[in-house]
Amino acid sequence: MNNLQNKENLTILAIESSCDETACAILRDGEILGECISTQIEIHRLYGGVVPEIASRNHVLSIDAVVKDAVNKAKITLNDVDIIAVTKGAGLLGSLLVGVSYAKGLAFALNKPIIGINHIRGHIAANYIEHPDLQTPYVGLIVSGGHSAVALVKSKTHLEIKGTTADDACGEAFDKVARVLGLPYPGGPEIEKLAKSGNPIIPMPHVKMKNPLDFSYSGLKTAVINYVHNAEQKGVEINKADLACSFQKAAVEMLADHAIELALSENINIIAIAGGVAANGALRDTLTLKAAPHNIKVYYPSKRLCTDNASMIASEAYVQIRSGAEFSDLTLDARATLSLVTDC
Ligand SMILES: Nc1ncnc2c1ncn2[C@@H]1O[C@H](COP(=O)(O)OP(=O)(O)OP(=O)(O)O)[C@@H](O)[C@H]1O
Ligand SMILES: [Mg+2]
Repeated sequence: MNNLQNKENLTILAIESSCDETACAILRDGEILGECISTQIEIHRLYGGVVPEIASRNHVLSIDAVVKDAVNKAKITLNDVDIIAVTKGAGLLGSLLVGVSYAKGLAFALNKPIIGINHIRGHIAANYIEHPDLQTPYVGLIVSGGHSAVALVKSKTHLEIKGTTADDACGEAFDKVARVLGLPYPGGPEIEKLAKSGNPIIPMPHVKMKNPLDFSYSGLKTAVINYVHNAEQKGVEINKADLACSFQKAAVEMLADHAIELALSENINIIAIAGGVAANGALRDTLTLKAAPHNIKVYYPSKRLCTDNASMIASEAYVQIRSGAEFSDLTLDARATLSLVTDC
C-alpha cells in the first residue's frame, strides 16, 4: 500500500540514464504529457560503442536541461508532480548514478516521494502507454542490447522467464555483426537498413538448445564473422546486403518461433515485444505473419519507445504505484545488474 495508489491524475516525473540516453518524461495516468531525450550516439560512434566514463560525464552535462525541457513541454510546474521515478538498474553504474543522484536531489528539494524502477521492466511497460487494451496474461519477448528473454507475463507485476540467452543478447549480436560489416554504432538499425537491399540467400546455422525456448546468438554471430574472414582470405568480394539480410532473418525467426511456441504451449493468444530490437521491422513483420494463423495478436511499442526512453520508466512506475508497491527513499542506490523477476 502507498499513499498514491488510488490518486486521480497521478503525475509521474521519470528519469532514465542507464546507458547513453539522458531522458525525462512526465506521464499523467499513464499518458505522456511531455518528454525530452538527449542521445550521445554521435559521441560514442567515434569509438564503435558506448564508453562508460564518457557516458556518465555527458549525463551530468545534459540532465538538468533535459528535465527542464520535459517539464516545459508537459506544461506543468514541478509542484504538480506527485512522485519522481528513476531507473535504478540494470545498466552502466556511473550513468545510473547520475540519474539516481539527480532524482534524489529533486525529490528532497520538492519534498516528494521517489521510486526506483527496473529498466527492463520499463521496456516491457512501454507497451502499456499506447496499448491500454493489452491484457495479461501474455507472452513477453524482451530483446534489447543486454537482454534476450521469452517470458510468461501473468500480470503486469508478475512474470516468469521461460527462455533466455545462453550467450550474447540479440541486440549485442546485431551490434557485433554490424561492426564486422563496417557499419557504425548502434548496429541494429544499420543492419536493418542494409538488409532491405539484400536477399536471405546465405545459409545460417540453426542452433538447437537443451531448453527449446532458450536462445544462442554467439553461433549466429560467429557464422557471419567466419563468412567474412573466409571471403577476405580468398580475396572474394562479399555481398554485405545479402549477409545482413540472412543474419537478420535467422535472428528474428528464432525470436518469433520461440515466442509463438511459448504462446501455444500456454494457450495464450497475445505476444508483446519489448526492448531496442523490438524496433526492427523484420521482427515485427515476421512475428505478426507467423502468429496470424494461430490467431495470436502481436503488440509492440512505436519505435521511439522501444529504445531507451523515460516514458517507459514512468509507465512502469505507474504500474508499480497502482499495484501498491512501496516507495523507495533517499537511500536508493544504483545497481549494475538486477533480476527481471524479483527486483521490481
Ligand atoms: N531497428 C533495429 N533492429 C535491430 N536492433 C535494433 C534496432 N534498433 C535498435 N536495435 C538494438 O537495440 C539495442 C539497444 O536497445 P536498448 O536501448 O534497449 O539496449 P540497452 O538499453 O543498451 O540494453 P538493456 O535494455 O538490455 O539494458 C542495440 O543493441 C541496438 O542495436
Ligand atoms: Mg534498454
